[in-house]
Amino acid sequence: MENFTFYSPTYFIFGKDEEKQVGHYVKRFGGSKVLVHFGGGSAERSGLLNTVRCSLREQGIAFVELGGVKPNPRDGLVYQGIELCRKTGVDFILAVGGGSVIDSAKAIAAGAVYDGDFWDYYEGKVVEKALPLGTVLTISAAGSEGSGDSVITKEQGMFKRATTGEALRPKFSILDPALTQTLPSYQTACGITDIIAHLYERYLTNTQDVEVTDRLIEALLLTMIKEGPKAVADANDYQSRANIMWAGMMAHNNSCGVGRSQDWTSHNIEHELSALYDCAHGAGLAVVMPAVFTYNLNHDVMRFAKVAVRVWGCQMDFEHPEATARAGIVALREFLKSIGMPSNFAELGAKAEDIDELTHKCCYGGVNSGTTGGFVTLHEADVKAIYKLML
Ligand code: NZQ
Ligand code: ZN
Repeated sequence: MENFTFYSPTYFIFGKDEEKQVGHYVKRFGGSKVLVHFGGGSAERSGLLNTVRCSLREQGIAFVELGGVKPNPRDGLVYQGIELCRKTGVDFILAVGGGSVIDSAKAIAAGAVYDGDFWDYYEGKVVEKALPLGTVLTISAAGSEGSGDSVITKEQGMFKRATTGEALRPKFSILDPALTQTLPSYQTACGITDIIAHLYERYLTNTQDVEVTDRLIEALLLTMIKEGPKAVADANDYQSRANIMWAGMMAHNNSCGVGRSQDWTSHNIEHELSALYDCAHGAGLAVVMPAVFTYNLNHDVMRFAKVAVRVWGCQMDFEHPEATARAGIVALREFLKSIGMPSNFAELGAKAEDIDELTHKCCYGGVNSGTTGGFVTLHEADVKAIYKLML
């Protein structure tokens, strides 16, 4: 195991109806003038926004609102949010929604106290200062409720880029599984896929002797395999939603990623798909992961065989470990298909003629300069070959 530091200061409030206390928590964490940030309508329709407004008023907390965050959130609304915060003296940001809303809130939080262009943070600058923020989560997926990460798309050129920084970790996050019961099954499945990807991206490591985090990841993957289909089949299954919600947080606050190298190839390759086609991030990952894993299989056959046996219940073939490793990838693909996820470019709405552009953006965007990937260093030719595997 490698040396590491781990700082995860978010205060979690988990369970039914806990969002009714949101005003109390905003006050507790120092908010007196709040920006309530939300998405395209689901939080209004479900009555959640009204619950939030009532709770803030009860606590005598002033607030302004900015809605309209789109999935794969854009920089345009971030600039608006930054201006609104500065103009109205906002000192706390409350994100009410999913990963897109939370990521947009994080970008505003960082940009509001920075003299330069907030986009600098998405081109490699580390976020060291941000307004405090809290979240009321409505979808189990991105893990942004516990992470220090944010992903934003620059509309000019449609570049989807990530930033990170301890200052971006939410001060508190309210996780009420019942709030996810209004999700369509497709979005539930996209979330499940994203959580599985966050686990695989950490499992695929070059660090030896990381049994504790290997086992944590395997436990979370097994949980997703058991509970995921239940939530897809029955939107109102509170207990499966509760298990998925906490698994989603644990999958991405990095408690199971410390002390080991990580991969993030599938995410980098997927981000170009959701940037170009505006598909759901989880759906993109469902197509990307089996292709990336197949391409990288020979880098460490035993690691793929290990997850195949321990998680997917495949029989270990010691004479042909590669066969076991491949069986694990097939099992993953079949599972994703069974919950309604796409399996190839066509089902995702992606086009073969865009592969050159996707490849170039992936290898040269953000902090990348010609390569991508943590588990295996991939060059343009490799990334192109991976996109072709998805056809
Ligand atoms: O906008 P509204 O109307 O709220 O609708 C949303 C949106 O259409 C809807 N939704 C959310 N909660 C709902 C609901 N509909 C009914 N009932 C509810 N309770 O679901 C749709 C998707 O929401 P979104 O926030 O986009 O989903 P998700 O949480 O998957 O976030 C995706 C974004 O997070 C980024 C992705 O790249 C993508 O941009 N990621 C962020 C990460 C991070 N910050 O740590 C890590 C991830 O790997 C990921 O890259
Ligand atoms: Zn993700």
